[in-house]
Parts: sequence; C-alpha cells; structure tokens
Amino acid sequence: MTEDVPVRIRPAIAALPPYKQGKQAEPGTFKLSSNENPYEPLPSVVESLRETVGVNRYPDASASRLRHRLAERFGVLPDEVHIGAGSVAILSQLMLAASGPGDEVVYAWRSFEAYPGLVLIAGATPVEVPLTPDARHDLDAMAAAVTERTRAIIVCSPNNPTGPIVTQAEFEAFLDKVPADLLVILDEAYAEFVTDPDAVDGLIKLGRADHPNVVVLRTFSKAFGLAGLRVGYAIGHRRILDAARSTAVPLSVTAQSEEAALASLDAEAELLARVHVIAERRDRLAAGLRAQGWRVPTAQGNFVWLATRDETMDAAARFEAGGCIVRPFAGDGIRVSVGEEESVEKILQIATSIVEALPEGHSGRALA
Ligand SMILES: Cc1ncc(COP(=O)(O)O)c(C=O)c1O
Repeated sequence: MTEDVPVRIRPAIAALPPYKQGKQAEPGTFKLSSNENPYEPLPSVVESLRETVGVNRYPDASASRLRHRLAERFGVLPDEVHIGAGSVAILSQLMLAASGPGDEVVYAWRSFEAYPGLVLIAGATPVEVPLTPDARHDLDAMAAAVTERTRAIIVCSPNNPTGPIVTQAEFEAFLDKVPADLLVILDEAYAEFVTDPDAVDGLIKLGRADHPNVVVLRTFSKAFGLAGLRVGYAIGHRRILDAARSTAVPLSVTAQSEEAALASLDAEAELLARVHVIAERRDRLAAGLRAQGWRVPTAQGNFVWLATRDETMDAAARFEAGGCIVRPFAGDGIRVSVGEEESVEKILQIATSIVEALPEGHSGRALA
C-alpha cells in the first residue's frame, strides 16, 4: 500500500489523534490503566449472557426493558432514559445533537480524554478551563467561559483522571449562573464509588423539574463491571434525549449488554458491596501514597492521580517495569486505577522510590 491516499478527509478529522486506549497488560501484570473493575462478572450476569443467544436477530433498538427498569429505579419516565453503547456513545450523540461548526463546548481540563475528540468530531470548538491547583473543577471560571456560541458544558464528577468531586452546592450555584437554555452534561461515570456525602448526585439530589437543561450520564462499565459489553445511560429531558437518539448509530446496544445490565440491577446490592471494597482500597492506596510524600488530590473514583509532570513517562516506565500498567498523560501526570488487592502493595513499593527522586517543590510532592 502507498503511504498516502487521494481520498479527501475532513481536515478537522485528519488532524485528530486517534483515541488512545489504556495499555493492555501482559499476563502476570496488573492492568491499572483504564479504570476497570478488577472483579470477574457475577455468575448471575454470566448466566444472563448464556441465555441471550439469539444473535441472528437485531436487538430491541431502544433497549426498552432496561429503559423502563432504570426509569422505575430513578423515578422518571421511560422517555427520560436513553441507553447507549457505553456512556461515551451518548456523549458523542449529545455533542452532535447540540453543537457544530462555530459553536463551543466548555469542559474542565484535564478531564476525560475523550472530550476534545468528541467536540472536534461534531465540528465544534473545545473550550478547556484549567482545573484549580488542587485538581478540582473551577466552576466559576467555567461559567465565565460561556459565550453566546457555547452550546454545551460538560462537568465530570468525580473528575477523571484527577479524582475530586464537585459538591451538590457548587453544582447548583453553577446552574444558577449559566443560561437556562444551555445543555449541561453531568458525567457521573464513577458516581457509585463516591463516599463524600457532599458530592453532587444528578439522579437523587438534583431536582429534575428545576433543571431541565441537565443531562446526567452514568455507566455500567465501572462499578458494575461491564466495560467489555458497552452499556451506559443518560437521564434527562425527553426532548434532549430524542435529539441524542436522532444522532445515534442505530442498533448499537446489543441484547447481551441489555440483559447483563438488567441482571446487574437484580444483583445491585452484591455489586455495590464490591464497590465498597474498591472504595476502601482506594482510600488505603491514596493514604499510603500521601504517607510516602506524594500530593494526591482527593480521590473519589476508582483511581488516584500522581502529578508527575515532566517525570511522567519515566515514572510510568518504572511502574511498568515493576508489573503495573498505569495511564500516563505525558507532561502532566499518571492515573493509577484501583485494581486487585495485591496491586496496592505493588504500587506503593514502586511509588516510594519515584517520589523520593522528585526534586523538592515538585508539584507531585506534598509541601514539606
Ligand atoms: C468520565 C468518563 N465518562 C465516560 C466514560 C465512558 O465510559 P463507558 O463508555 O464505558 O460508559 C469514561 C470511561 O473511562 C469516563 O472516565
């Protein structure tokens, strides 16, 4: 094949780096690069997949059983629930539905690495608002970044990859500041891991009627351990979700993912007990790192953040050499997912020599 091809690609797309996934792990290493759930699926979930073998048929396009189940669970109407092949698919649909050339989408940075690409694919312009020094959303600055061209704002709580939450009070004050006709997406992919009682909760604490411009995104990938099946959901106003349904690739949510999500809701208590173990493990990992001298931002997801800056790629290589695949963001920091129990000790063993080698005053180190 020749190196190039004369086919014309949209310049904005040709300029995009392809989505970079967390690195895969060799056998015998810990894969701590994609915020996955380390637990094997529950037997009841595996059984639900075995029973869904009619793969010669297309799935129910709107996953209506799951939609009804979630509607009941959260006290909304079925039309106020939308299912996607992962919550990232719904994010993409919302970007396409709300924004296009000449429009802007505001989000915090650094945040979920898929945001810039999804905005650019829609043809819109990303507006990235720096996090505060303690790696939290700067909601005042985000509200101030809204112009007449802004069509959506994404708020990620807990923030991937840094970890802190947005509080309910902060989020409500923010909603009072931004125009009521602006789409606000609250990305709560890690909501189930949150233990801070002051955290925003877009489904339980937020009055839907007062804030029809807010769409909440949740996923079965993280706490419920179904990342490989691709199933997430949005809850929001029917008109906004209809627009997302209009831009969706039809039939992309499979019958298997719908069944597994339903089986997971049947086993919610059991799954949340595992989430509790992971959250406790996270707190231990963060505390161990802080005791070594790391400055770890508040960690409320299933991951912790190390601000390794210029040392990022070297530090990631050292974790890898020690059998832990982590997620480096060159020049910025390293996200370490909370995985198997044995990985905690391993990470702590490797991390101690890395922090000791960081110069005094480095942003990854706690102030002495
Ligand atoms: C903040 C955030 N939102 C959304 C997603 C997408 O998750 P999924 O598409 O698996 O539901 C992720 C995955 O890493 C994430 O970190």
